[in-house]
Amino acid sequence: MSLNRRIAPSILAANFAKLGDQVREVVDAGARVIHVDIMDGHFVPPLTMGPLVLSALVDQGFEGVEYDVHLMVERPEQHIADFAKAGAHNITFHAEATPHVNYTVQKIRELGCTAGVAVCPATPLDVFREITPDLALCMTVNPGWGGQSFIESSPDKIARLRSILGDSVELEVDGGIDVSTAGLAADAGATLFVAGSALFGAPDPAQAYHDIAAAAGV
Ligand code: DX5
Ligand code: ZN
Repeated sequence: MSLNRRIAPSILAANFAKLGDQVREVVDAGARVIHVDIMDGHFVPPLTMGPLVLSALVDQGFEGVEYDVHLMVERPEQHIADFAKAGAHNITFHAEATPHVNYTVQKIRELGCTAGVAVCPATPLDVFREITPDLALCMTVNPGWGGQSFIESSPDKIARLRSILGDSVELEVDGGIDVSTAGLAADAGATLFVAGSALFGAPDPAQAYHDIAAAAGV
């Protein structure tokens, strides 16, 4: 089974004073996955948001929209229940952030969500030989900040990850995805493309959504 490619706008780059309107704009353009970046000031230096922001978005009732939570927090197993309760569909955590990857995947599934495992650019892919999550997230920048440049060696790593996963596991890429890099990631085997600043930082986010989707072959 091969998966349909999708774009996941990252609200990290949105204007938080009008978050609901910004999300509506990309949903109206066709987005069906919204990426929510959670940072704890420890695993990565910045602090961002918690489950309250997610539940406020879920309460907007956007039809057919899934919320993809990316936990950049230490000991993610201590926080997954809060995000599942807030309405997450998928919860991804970093393999580097807990010694209990298998346990955390199991707990996320028990909470009724799909489970994703993320790796930073320098982290080997060995974890994916030991466990098959529902989603594998290959960071294409160092986690912690929007607006960075796509790491050039990423397509090689994405292709190696795709060959470990087989065809039926979602392979997400996150960081520096825009009209010039989305195609490189797609050709290497990515199926879910996070876009933050290239989308919400554009003068017309709906047009940017269409352009990135076309570049990714969505
Ligand atoms: C970075 C976050 C990303 C971020 C991507 O640590 O995980 O999701 O929003 O931002 P851009 O698309 O600007 O690189
Ligand atoms: Zn992210």
